[in-house]
Parts: sequence; structure tokens; C-alpha cells
Amino acid sequence: MLHADPALNAARLLGARLVDDEVELSWAHGGPAARFAPFWLRDHCHSRDSLNPDTLQRQVDTFRIPTDITPAKLEIVDAGQALEIVWRHDGSQSRLPAAFLWQVAANEGRPAAPHRRLWDRASMGERFPTMAHADIVASDAGLLRWLTLVEEFGFALATGIPATLEATRQLATRIAYVRKTIFGDMWDFTANLAFKDTAYTSAAIGPHTDGTYSLDSPGFQMFHCLQFDGTGGESTLVDGFKVAEQIRKVDPEAFAALTQVKVPAQYLGDGVHLRAEHPIIELDERGDYRQIAYNNYDRAAFRLPTERMRVFYRALGLFNELINDPSYEITMRLAPGTALLFDNWRTLHGRRAYQGFRRLCGAYLNKEDVDSKLRVLRAEVRSAAAG
Ligand SMILES: [Fe+2]
Repeated sequence: MLHADPALNAARLLGARLVDDEVELSWAHGGPAARFAPFWLRDHCHSRDSLNPDTLQRQVDTFRIPTDITPAKLEIVDAGQALEIVWRHDGSQSRLPAAFLWQVAANEGRPAAPHRRLWDRASMGERFPTMAHADIVASDAGLLRWLTLVEEFGFALATGIPATLEATRQLATRIAYVRKTIFGDMWDFTANLAFKDTAYTSAAIGPHTDGTYSLDSPGFQMFHCLQFDGTGGESTLVDGFKVAEQIRKVDPEAFAALTQVKVPAQYLGDGVHLRAEHPIIELDERGDYRQIAYNNYDRAAFRLPTERMRVFYRALGLFNELINDPSYEITMRLAPGTALLFDNWRTLHGRRAYQGFRRLCGAYLNKEDVDSKLRVLRAEVRSAAAG
């Protein structure tokens, strides 16, 4: 990780030289020098004929670049804003922006990990991340603030939204298209057995993530309670990454099992048979948390050698114990007019038992679409700020 971290567009090159067949770049704003292979620099040339300036699609023919390509001349141009290279084999020129090179040097081309604040009941306290619906929908900057809260905490609330399915749909589609699943797109669920028994009780649901049986589990879920007349029924949330972090700290053997064992899950019925496998805690290439996938009801049969299976069951038991530990759980009563958006790849959700009438609507959004919206909104707000 580089130390100096100028705003991306402020990155400036100071010098470029050939060292051991690599191009070594130094920065005007300090930070360690970065080295790039000449072949990589040619492949990532930003000249018009190498990279489409509108779509950023590669136009250079990677496979015609000589494997022993080497620069004849290296020059810093535009007051440090770009590197120009003249290639020895054919005299052609390449140009690469300093900001691009700085970003790749800092993170190898992968986006920086999102800023997350892991929480438990004590650190979250009573004040949950919340914005007024009117502020969210008033501008792209408002929507970005709300989605940034969801990115940081794994959930956020929107207050003052009309208690209708249509208003909920409009808020969801302000972010992305609603994901269509075997349950339809927007769902609208009324648990009302009042005709049979006014004391109808709907059972508690323990903390879980949805779609463990899906290859691409829904990234986000929105809930909006449109009507409630009864008692109980509080929603519960648990930060799965916080629980994962605790297990990583106190029980490396369990953590290894939860990150390595792919657990199959299935959904069978209504003319479909979905099946997928996910580790309960999935890590990315950097060891950061990518996804929690946990629903013990939907787990399908699998077997490991006896000792591995024993370790897995112990790890599963520890995970289940922590997510059901009240010190990791927050509860909220979703009232008409308050919508909840949460990250289904991070935040486990559940519900207390209730008695009475309840109408809940909701929607799934895909992970990739919400991520896309965040990138677009951030670029928009950045360019607006730049004038
Ligand atoms: Fe669920």
C-alpha cells in the first residue's frame, strides 16, 4: 500500500527510468516508486487507437505486442500528468495518464475495499443509520449518501415513505431494477389468518441470509411493512462480518472450516429445484469478507471425512451460537412509512414471533447492480464537485 494518497486526479509523475527491464516511476507527491513491465504498459496504452476513450474497451491487439518489447525513450509530459513512451521495435508511441498508473500501483487494478464499519449491539446503540425518504430521492447526492450508509453498516432505513407498494417499488428502482425470482419481482405478503383465528401467531424466524440455494444470492433486500396491527414481529439484524471477525480472532480452526467448506443448499418446490454451494463465510482474494451465506433450514446433504465433518459441525455450531447471541443482534419494529434496505451478502435478518395482521412488501436487488449504481453515482458526484 502506498503512503502518499493524493486525490486521484492530483497524481503527478516526477520521473521514469528503465531498471532491470522494468519501467520505474517516481511521484511528485512522494510515496514509493512503482515498477511496471514494458509489455503491460503497451497493453494498457491510453492512446486513441489502443483504448476506446468512450467505452474504455481495449483496442490494442495484445497478441501482436513483441514479448521482448522495450522502450527507446521515456518522457514525463503535461506537467507530470502523463507518461509517454517511444517503443524501440517500431518507433510507435504510447501514452498513459499518471492518475491511472497511480491507481493501479496502489491497488493492482482492483477497486479499493469498501469502507465498512462492523457493529454489534453495543457499538450500534439505539441510533440506526437513517435518512428521510424525501432526501434520498431528491438528488443523486442524496441517494449516494443513503447507499453509502448501506455500504458502511450493511443496512439503512428510509423514513417518511408513503406506505404503498408503488412507493416502495419506486425507491427500489431508483437504485436498480428489481430482481425477478421464482417468487416474482416485488413481493407483497399478507399473513392474515384472522378469518380462522384472531389469535393467529406467526412463528419467529432465526437470523439467516436469503438465497443460499442461488448461485448469485440476492445482493440486497428491501422490506417495507405496509400495515401492522398486532404485537411482536420486531425485525432482527446481525452483522455477519462482525461475527466472522470474532470467529477469526478466537477460533482459527472454525474460521478455516467456515471459509473453506462449500455448503450446498437447495430450494425444492413450485416446479423448481435450485441448488448452489457457498462457504458460510466467503473471502475475496485479499482475505476481505465477500459474502455470508447461512440458512440452516435450506442446507442440503453433504458429507466430509469424519474428522473434517466434526470440525465443520463444531464451526457451524459456533457461528449459529454467535448470530443468536443478543450482544450481536439489533432489533427494530418496521412500521408503515419506514423502509429497510440491507446487504444480504453481509447482514443476517430474522423476525420475532407476532400475533395479528401484518402486510410486508419487499424486493431483491442484485449485488452487481447496486455496486454499479454506487460507481456511477460516485463518478457523477465527483465530476460535479470538480466543476
Ligand atoms: Fe429471509
